Amino acid sequence: MIISVGADHGGFELKEQIVNYLKMSGHQVIDNGANSSDSVDYPDFAKLVSKDIQEKKAEFGVLVCGSGIGISIAANRHNGIRAALVTRKEFAKLSREHNNANVIVFGGRFTSFEEAKEYLDIFLSTPFEGGRHQNRIDKIEDKI
Ligand code: RB5
Repeated sequence: MIISVGADHGGFELKEQIVNYLKMSGHQVIDNGANSSDSVDYPDFAKLVSKDIQEKKAEFGVLVCGSGIGISIAANRHNGIRAALVTRKEFAKLSREHNNANVIVFGGRFTSFEEAKEYLDIFLSTPFEGGRHQNRIDKIEDKI
């Protein structure tokens, strides 16, 4: 899979580990930065990852900021982006099955690398259920 990744300074460290993990797992990674722990603005990275998905350069996205909250809010302002802040295994699964999430978000200051790996594996391997859930997504996308 091609996966677009981005983080601000609060998510930089976890993002670096995630990029290595995804590459080692055989995925192709578009690393949109940040490239250091210097202070930056999370909406810029939400925008870059969202654009990769909108332009179909990537199938999924991973975003990380300090809490995961700001970068989720920012990503979800972009058309066609369904970003889910995941803090437990069940959310990784449900965000795919029910919400067809295309971006998984972590709080770098609250989520360990071990947890992130587990959530990522579930997220990337769980299919969308469709059916009644597609109808709800169409409403979010204003198609109904
Ligand atoms: C940066 O300090 C922090 O505000 C940011 O990473 C994120 O947590 C915002 O929601």
